[in-house]
Amino acid sequence: MEKRNKILNIEDIHTYYGVSHVIQGLSMYVEQREAVSILGRNGVGKTTTLRSIMGLTPPRSGSIQIDGIETTRFQPHKISKIGVAYVPAERHIFPGLSVKENLILAARPGNGKDPWTFEKVCDHFPGLADRTLQDGATLSGGEQQMLAIGRALISNPKIIIMDEPSQGLSPLLVQMITDVVLKVCTESGITMLIVEQNYRMALKVASRHYLMGTKGEIVKVASTQELMDNPEIIQSHLSV
Ligand SMILES: Nc1ncnc2c1ncn2[C@@H]1O[C@H](COP(=O)(O)OP(=O)(O)OP(=O)(O)O)[C@@H](O)[C@H]1O
Ligand SMILES: [Mg+2]
Repeated sequence: MEKRNKILNIEDIHTYYGVSHVIQGLSMYVEQREAVSILGRNGVGKTTTLRSIMGLTPPRSGSIQIDGIETTRFQPHKISKIGVAYVPAERHIFPGLSVKENLILAARPGNGKDPWTFEKVCDHFPGLADRTLQDGATLSGGEQQMLAIGRALISNPKIIIMDEPSQGLSPLLVQMITDVVLKVCTESGITMLIVEQNYRMALKVASRHYLMGTKGEIVKVASTQELMDNPEIIQSHLSV
């Protein structure tokens, strides 16, 4: 089997908010062109894991490497410069800027043969193509999510990290986002880490899944097939 690079490698991190020890020894990795999910109940530390990777809430101990570079103590801007695109649950669209301006501001040249450009994003997100001059703040929730994902892609990152892209969206919009993400993954071979409460979406877009326990540690790693064949695994780890 082809040996792939680990684009993200986390070893035994411990992350705190003040005295609150939220992530207690988490290890995981994402290989090149792999889509991986983190699943877990409310409040176990999924967002904190992403914030640890992005340098927003750096771990106190342990190690995080991006494409072989030790980034554990890096500032967030440096981590994004190395090629980690973060799509937070709140989406953080720039209000007062148009869809096009939001995209152009995030654009970075890509190394591959078919990099993400403004035109390519418009091709993949027809909902945005019709609204390039609309103020980002006036987009619907689903359109904002599309823009947030488009903005991550146009930076041509090494890895995209998404926090609950389905949050607050209707089932129809969740379906649309799932289809777009799936298309992007299969066509462009993007490397992705996705946090989701909506495990049905996670099972559709990711091929490997980390289940997080109440100490912000990984209690199980499973393939999509294993989770589909054994629904009780999800039941016991995710149901309340
Ligand atoms: N800024 C903060 N200061 C103190 N505690 C925090 C802070 N942010 C999060 N926490 C706490 O850390 C724990 C993990 O939070 P986190 O947001 O990472 O969970 P999550 O798995 O993303 O939850 P959800 O599914 O609700 O998004 C929770 O107990 C939360 O209350
Ligand atoms: Mg969260």
